[in-house]
Amino acid sequence: MSTLSLSQYLCREQQLHDLDPVLSRLIVSVSEACKTISFKVRNGALAGVLGMAGSENVQGEDQKKLDIISNDIFVEAVALSGSVCGMVSEEIPEVIPVPEDLPIGPYLICFDPLDGSSNIDINVSIGSIFSVLPAVRPKREPVAEDFLMPGTKQVAAGYCMYGPQTQLVLTFGRGVVMFTLDPTTGTFMLTAEDVRVDRSAKEFAINCSNMRHWEDPVKRYVAELLEGKTGVRGKDFNMRWVAAMVAEVHRILQRGGIFMYPRDHRDLTKPGKLRLMYEANPMSMLMENAGAAATNGHQRILDIVPEKIHQRVAVFLGAADEVERVTSYHAE
Ligand code: AHG
Ligand code: MN
Ligand code: MN
Ligand code: MN
Repeated sequence: MSTLSLSQYLCREQQLHDLDPVLSRLIVSVSEACKTISFKVRNGALAGVLGMAGSENVQGEDQKKLDIISNDIFVEAVALSGSVCGMVSEEIPEVIPVPEDLPIGPYLICFDPLDGSSNIDINVSIGSIFSVLPAVRPKREPVAEDFLMPGTKQVAAGYCMYGPQTQLVLTFGRGVVMFTLDPTTGTFMLTAEDVRVDRSAKEFAINCSNMRHWEDPVKRYVAELLEGKTGVRGKDFNMRWVAAMVAEVHRILQRGGIFMYPRDHRDLTKPGKLRLMYEANPMSMLMENAGAAATNGHQRILDIVPEKIHQRVAVFLGAADEVERVTSYHAE
């Protein structure tokens, strides 16, 4: 199959849609980071990348070695691109500046360097997620407040999935495209354009072990899905849970469905488990660009103005009809 490489695709976007060459350079650097992580993941125990790091991140999660390795790979690749003035990462408490000897650029980037950490040691799909924001006033040492803009401001977002194939999925706000890493040449090749998600769905994803803690609208919505053909929904629904948001979103982009990570009664002060700036915003931008939807049960995720870089949020994303239904239950 003859198709475009990622670099050729970015050149085409520069010609056809005035894509900023600096943003293009940032995406190439992100793709280089993902490629390096992919090679490490493929080697697993042989590369010594499995197991715990023995530390905790700012969210109180035990860090895996690969969480930290991936973070370091991202930070280095992005800093060298000269296209950002700062970075924030799930794994680092404060804003990460660009080293003084390197040039800065007009963008800010937020990333989850390794998503699906609990899958690392069992050889199940994992990924990296990124979100690019414009810096309002590019400066050498941006502070956390400089990142606190709603997801509608994102100029690019995407993820890379390290599964049976390594795939990079990307949006600049003009639809969603997918690239597959050719392992023989180390090149990301364009393998899907204009990715669309059906409004209706037959599949849902939620961690049902938390059912007893859910709020009533979520209990009602899932109970109705489980009733199947003879219930109010009048059809059967299938369920999947990979425990890596990247893999759930990837499945939805390929064959539809809804993904949920609601807040729950264990701790009502916590607005959810997933992180707004590293996970929910980039995935919501991808969803909306594929004709799907994303809310926190009450409002569009992309409209939320963050108060902190590590802020968490409830997430309902995927098939528009299903997201609208579960969101409407929250209003009742
Ligand atoms: P991370 O590995 O980056 O901390 O994110 C894990 C997230 C997300 O990817 C996934 O959907 C969810 O946590 C899995 O949660 P459970 O442990 O409840 O299955
Ligand atoms: Mn984590
Ligand atoms: Mn994650
Ligand atoms: Mn992570």
